[in-house]
Amino acid sequence: MSNIKLGKFPSTRLRRLRMKDFTRRMISENNLSVNDLIWPIFVCEGNNIADEIKSMPGVFRYSINNILKELETVINLKIPAVALFPQVENSLKDENGSQAVDENNLICRSIKAIKQNFPDLGVICDVALDPYTNHGHDGIIVDDVIHNDATLEILEQQALVQAVAGCDIIAPSDMMDGRIGRIRNILDQNKYENTLILSYAAKYASKFYGPFRDAISSSGNLKGGSKSSYQMDVANSNEALREVALDIKEGADMVMIKPGMPYLDVIQRVKSEFQVPTFAYQVSGEYSMIKGAVNNGWLESKVIKESLLSFKRAGADGILTYFAKQIAEELKNE
Ligand code: PBG
Repeated sequence: MSNIKLGKFPSTRLRRLRMKDFTRRMISENNLSVNDLIWPIFVCEGNNIADEIKSMPGVFRYSINNILKELETVINLKIPAVALFPQVENSLKDENGSQAVDENNLICRSIKAIKQNFPDLGVICDVALDPYTNHGHDGIIVDDVIHNDATLEILEQQALVQAVAGCDIIAPSDMMDGRIGRIRNILDQNKYENTLILSYAAKYASKFYGPFRDAISSSGNLKGGSKSSYQMDVANSNEALREVALDIKEGADMVMIKPGMPYLDVIQRVKSEFQVPTFAYQVSGEYSMIKGAVNNGWLESKVIKESLLSFKRAGADGILTYFAKQIAEELKNE
């Protein structure tokens, strides 16, 4: 774009368009709607439980009966989908994350309860072993490495039990190579060809996930402390395009970039390169930074909407955000 062609001061004055509210609204290029929001929720065992997560003020772990209560508001607000994450009891965690493939595990019971009560609400579930392993990694360990192909065997079963329970969108967040193809294949073989796959395609080895690991109680466990042998190097962006290209070829319907705000450049590159439905995850650490500053009076709460709009500007079609309910309420009252 050449500035010369677009005009010259004083005949061109960009402030003219900004002078009044009605023109500002007319020329606004991006817009946040409730349809853009996906609400991640943490589920735990028990009854009537709403446990606030220390490092995420205002975010709770809910037992299934309380999730159903929360979802009434979600339905009223017309939030299209929720993403479920389980806090698995320590006694059920093991080396191979075997709870992940139990058709009666916490997540499968949650899906069934949600689908029974709210059949039209979109349900998204992670496929990864970290909530289920006693070492906190997303895959299984063979000879001290996270073994890619051995992990695939379990992930495809995990995806299948979730699809059978009624999950609409399977969201592999494990970053093993080849998992999208394997999951697509097992779903198709079992007549779940209409179950969607939202791939966490470009997922970085980020420290912004810290509070999430508290929420699902996997942080204390994390052996070696780092997921960098499978999640992406935070310095890379060409590699993100290769990850996304592979996942689309293997059958992903939608792709995700994660974390969100520190990776807006990656969202923009992915969207302009592939033009597929592209999602961003404003992760736990991003939530906690913003919420912490707002709660302390250091920032105005309007920064929340500003942060979400930045994803739309970058080209995201939707955003997973812990602010979803709060913002949907604001949007409704506008
Ligand atoms: C599990 C998973 C993580 C998140 C979503 N799915 C954590 C991780 O990979 O360690 C992070 C979400 C957040 O921080 O809000 N694989």
